[in-house]
Amino acid sequence: MSPSVPNEPVLAVDGLSIGFQNRHGLLPAVRELSFSVKSGEMLAIVGESGCGKSLTALALLGLIPPPGRVTGGTVRLEGRDLLALDEAALRRVRGARIAMIFQEPMTALNPVLTVGEQIMEAILEHETVSRKAARERTLALLERVRIPDPERRFAEYPHRLSGGMRQRVMIAMALAGAPAVLVADEPTTALDVTIQAQILSLIDELRREQGTAVVFITHDLGVVSRYVDRVLVMYAGRKVEERDTRDLFADPLHPYTRGLIAAQPRAGAGAAGAVRERLAEIPGTVPALAAMPAGCAFAPRCPLADARCAQAVPPPRRAGSGLVACHHAGETHAL
Ligand SMILES: Nc1ncnc2c1ncn2[C@@H]1O[C@H](COP(=O)(O)OP(=O)(O)O)[C@@H](O)[C@H]1O
Ligand code: SF4
Ligand SMILES: [Mg+2]
Repeated sequence: MSPSVPNEPVLAVDGLSIGFQNRHGLLPAVRELSFSVKSGEMLAIVGESGCGKSLTALALLGLIPPPGRVTGGTVRLEGRDLLALDEAALRRVRGARIAMIFQEPMTALNPVLTVGEQIMEAILEHETVSRKAARERTLALLERVRIPDPERRFAEYPHRLSGGMRQRVMIAMALAGAPAVLVADEPTTALDVTIQAQILSLIDELRREQGTAVVFITHDLGVVSRYVDRVLVMYAGRKVEERDTRDLFADPLHPYTRGLIAAQPRAGAGAAGAVRERLAEIPGTVPALAAMPAGCAFAPRCPLADARCAQAVPPPRRAGSGLVACHHAGETHAL
């Protein structure tokens, strides 16, 4: 385990760029993305589908699938640049220092092993302990993620579990190596609202108790707003705003952020919040990589866009607790 310095970010991403090579050249998908998280902190990365959130998550674990590749920047985990590590070294870091949970646990769980067996395997991969000790740790982990009747669940196969229980198993597996950073890529998107809230509050509890830094990726700002310290808003591969959560909601500075907040599905008055109402959709869609506008990528959808927006990419500027990249930042009150 590497020593961690208090208050130093445990994960620091600087200028991360990711692209896809095709016959016309390199298509940039993530551009100059920078952010950091400290122990016990939870950062949300939000944006609509296609904004580059999953590619960012995969880059943090050195898992970008070809023909995609990291074209620039650094990803420092506990001071070490992960992008400079070879595959063997990366494999040692994955699970042990940084772990990931996905939207669909079934793709990550082995259908022919019981829940207990695969968590035990995850433990034995990171440590030399007896099978008996690994089994005890597995039961403790199942209990830790609030799976009722751990002894019985230990012997069950993943397909026997509900979506929420499977996601709890995934979290238990991710915690098996006691990672310093947990990356969660839309882990609650497939679940109903009540279960989503339970999983989020579990992750929140774990980071408070164990000091895990969490990068929580979602397209749904409403789901995370109660739990995260900071929000990074991504649009078309770039960071467009990053603020402390309270500031972001009190005074969104970027028109896209404002659109996301207005479009938030709100839990309605129906049973268990099952009724969700879409307030105001942002018109249009995220541009495809091959059709990226020259200036601000949000310009075709932005009510404040002018000639300058169409020509020049807005540079990030400091704004109170964070950063915003918009030529008309702060003018959203006029919308
Ligand atoms: N294998 C791939 N080949 C080409 N383009 C890809 C590939 N994977 C992702 N992309 C593109 O990269 C962009 C970002 O994708 P992704 O990170 O999955 O977005 P998000 O997770 O925010 O929905 C999208 O435009 C997507 O179409
Ligand atoms: S730079 Fe211009 S187009 Fe882009 S978000 Fe700001 S106002 Fe809208
Ligand atoms: Mg995604």
